[in-house]
Amino acid sequence: MTLRHILIHPDPRLKKRCDPVTEVTKELRAAADDMLETMYDAPGIGLAGPQVGLMSRILVMDCVKDPEAAPRPMVLLNPEVTWSSEATNVYEEGCLSIPEQYAEVTRPAEVKVRWMDLEGAMQEEHFAGLWATCVQHEIDHLNGRLFIDYLTPLKRQLITRRMTKLKRERARA
Ligand code: NI
Repeated sequence: MTLRHILIHPDPRLKKRCDPVTEVTKELRAAADDMLETMYDAPGIGLAGPQVGLMSRILVMDCVKDPEAAPRPMVLLNPEVTWSSEATNVYEEGCLSIPEQYAEVTRPAEVKVRWMDLEGAMQEEHFAGLWATCVQHEIDHLNGRLFIDYLTPLKRQLITRRMTKLKRERARA
């Protein structure tokens, strides 16, 4: 397994709609393993293909918070929200592509998501709590949408300027 480089906003690849996965190849399995390792290493609870420059509809996540509990690494291919609750939830969200910036985002509190697993089988699950927020945030990535797109233009510009500065500093280092 290899840690992959996480793209930092602003980057045109983070604004693109990703292509559906048509076949589970060896390369895709390797990418899923790498993405999980990269996510745990960051550390984060979710990571989507475009964040590592992979423009396919793949995301990984594990929202088990209790360090004593068994981890639950999940890999979702071509995930689709098939139902959303009317009730909403507000979470302070962050993103590995927008380091150290957090903001409240309102989303449906519960969702049902259908996806293909690495065996090519269809799965469907009902997500609530942090899992629901995370899976929606990651599916957004596959559609070129970031959590800052839910904020006011002013807040979004402020964060984008900070990230541009961070990228300049990192490039110099
Ligand atoms: Ni993110």
